[in-house]
Amino acid sequence: MSKNQSIGVFLSEEKIKSRVNELANQINKDFQNQEVVIVGVLNGSFIFCADLVRALKIPATIEFVSLSSYEGTESSGEVSFRMDVKQSLVGKNVIIVEDIVDTGLTITFLMKHMKLKNPKSLKLCSLLLKRARLKIEVPVDYLGFDIEDKFVIGYGLDFDGKYRELPYIGVYGE
Ligand code: IMP
Repeated sequence: MSKNQSIGVFLSEEKIKSRVNELANQINKDFQNQEVVIVGVLNGSFIFCADLVRALKIPATIEFVSLSSYEGTESSGEVSFRMDVKQSLVGKNVIIVEDIVDTGLTITFLMKHMKLKNPKSLKLCSLLLKRARLKIEVPVDYLGFDIEDKFVIGYGLDFDGKYRELPYIGVYGE
C-alpha cells in the first residue's frame, strides 16, 4: 500500500495544471515586453513556482525568500525572515509567489518588506486563498483557487514537513 493512498483528491493534478497555465498566461499578457522578478516563498511554493515559471513566456529571474511558518496546523501569527532576496529590486517588476494565504499575516509582512525595496511594481500570486480565515485584507493579484477553511496538503504544501511531494492537493485528515 502506498504511503499516501488514504489522502483523497481535493484539487486534481489536471485542474492545478490548467489553472497554473491560466495564471501564467495572465502574467504574460500583463507584462508583455517586460522583465519580471519572481520571488517564491519557501518552502510551500517551490512546486507551484517551478510550474509557473516554466509556463511564462516573458524574461524572468527567480529568487526565493524564507520566512518562519506554521507549527502544526495553527498559525503562530509571528513572522520572521530566514532568507531574503539576493538582488536589488529597485525599479523591477516583482511578483511574489505564495502557496497559500490563510490568515494573511505572513504575506502582509512580506509585501511590506518588499515594498521598502522600491520595485517598479509589486504583485502577489497565490495558488490558494482561504478567504474565511483572513485576519487582514490581502489583495491577491493572481489567484489560483479560493478554497474553504480546510487544512490542505500536497503540491508543495505540508503538514509537519510531510506530503509536499503529492502531485495533487488533498485535505489533511479526510
Ligand atoms: P498565514 O500567515 O496564516 O496566511 O499563513 C500562511 C502560511 O501558512 C502558508 O505559506 C503555509 O506555509 C501555511 N499554511 C496555511 N494554511 C495551510 C494549509 O492549509 N496547509 C498547509 N500549509 C498552510
